[in-house]
Amino acid sequence: MSAEKIFIHGLGSSGEGVGKLDGLAVFVEGALPGEEVLAEIETRKKNYAVGRLVEVVKNSPERVEPFCPLYKNCGGCQLQHMSYAAQLKWKRQQVVDAVERIGKLGGVKIFETLGMENPLRYRNKMQFPVGKAMRNAQCVVRNDSGRGKDELVIGCYARGSHKIIDTTSCLIQNAGNDKILAAVRVVAKKFNLQPYDEDTHKGFLRHVMGRVGSNGELMIVLVTATKNFPNEKNFVRALLKEIPNVTSIQQNVQTFRNNVILGRDTKILYGKPTIHDKIGGLSFNISARSFFQVNTAQAEVLYKTAQDFAELRGNETIIDAYCGTGTISLFMAKKARKVVGVEVVSSAVADAKKNSRENNIRNAEFIVGDAVNVLPKIFDAGVYAEVVIVDPPRAGCDKKVLETFAAMKPEKIIYVSCNPATLARDLKILDELGYRTKKIQPVDMFPFTSHVESVAQIFKS
Ligand SMILES: C[S@@+](CC[C@H](N)C(=O)[O-])C[C@H]1O[C@@H](n2cnc3c(N)ncnc32)[C@H](O)[C@@H]1O
Repeated sequence: MSAEKIFIHGLGSSGEGVGKLDGLAVFVEGALPGEEVLAEIETRKKNYAVGRLVEVVKNSPERVEPFCPLYKNCGGCQLQHMSYAAQLKWKRQQVVDAVERIGKLGGVKIFETLGMENPLRYRNKMQFPVGKAMRNAQCVVRNDSGRGKDELVIGCYARGSHKIIDTTSCLIQNAGNDKILAAVRVVAKKFNLQPYDEDTHKGFLRHVMGRVGSNGELMIVLVTATKNFPNEKNFVRALLKEIPNVTSIQQNVQTFRNNVILGRDTKILYGKPTIHDKIGGLSFNISARSFFQVNTAQAEVLYKTAQDFAELRGNETIIDAYCGTGTISLFMAKKARKVVGVEVVSSAVADAKKNSRENNIRNAEFIVGDAVNVLPKIFDAGVYAEVVIVDPPRAGCDKKVLETFAAMKPEKIIYVSCNPATLARDLKILDELGYRTKKIQPVDMFPFTSHVESVAQIFKS
């Protein structure tokens, strides 16, 4: 295959370089804007092609040496070859492009991305798959020498595949998660726990999840394919010997043949059901299945931005749709009359209620259920909210949810989003429903990855 010379003019939504070849858009992973590269065209479709980077002929001034030895193969980070300042600029541009191209909205002020001073070791949560080394080429290992076939490996998925890179240290993870990883690996091998094989749906250990609280509390969740945990008590004892200061060890059972990491049933094997984290002076209980922002330091920046954008006077009722463990709700409750949080995961709502009690907040209530069903019920029951906060998963809001907001006629909507494309789609729908977007603040929650988080302020026109 001969290599083609391509000028890279931009970055795609997954951080891949974008250039043109004979009028066709070409995506080249690892290439940066302004660079001239040689790439082998591996896929050619009607509207685009995908090239493999062979050589960078002319370097971008923003190109830097990746800090992680696994970066070349690992699917966890996409932008380690780009300076952090350029990443922040690119993330803002992603929002600008989405608002213009998908949202077709003009006159929206989009600020520079708020980044981190020290963007390493920021993740408080890891969830790594478990597999077998070298078996059916299902897994790759960093160093093949001395490793037996069928040996258990734990780590990140390799880029664009379900092969597992045996990972001993991930530099965007809190160091506590590295310790969890090392301890589970040693003990799982000692007890001969069978790694799960997603092709045959056989084996036991599927994922290892680790969570670290701001006071150093550790939670280990072993996600297993079956309920029966062989030699459970001795396993837990051995794990505690390997990593003594653990607050919680849990087993989560995921029996389904799919990519969903956590199942519904969780059993406490040792210690407490939750660990604690702190954001902006508030303390939060986090259980295994609850959503909690993975970057605690930036979560404070994100919530502070949402609070500033809400411009609270102190007498408002706020609805916090998709509230998780009630983090934004409790942040806002200090400055409002009342907050009503809505969340589909019942353990997250239990955490939210506990969090509000423990922080001595009495003007927040939480409802379990799907926002699509709960919000119209609240509306029918006559609840009026001056401010609505919405922080949905990547897929964005169901159109019915946005229509219910418009029918409620709040003064303002604050939209927290982890996906510029669905944010822009929803801002367009809100615009058609009479809600104008005034400003957007991107916040970097996930340095070195292509993920873009932002907060939008939207007013009733
Ligand atoms: C991006 S998280 C935001 C959570 C919270 N605002 C925070 O910052 O921690 C989205 C939340 O929406 C919840 N969720 C997903 N689909 C939902 C639905 N249909 N109705 C209500 N909540 C939902 C998820 O369980 C998750 O807790």
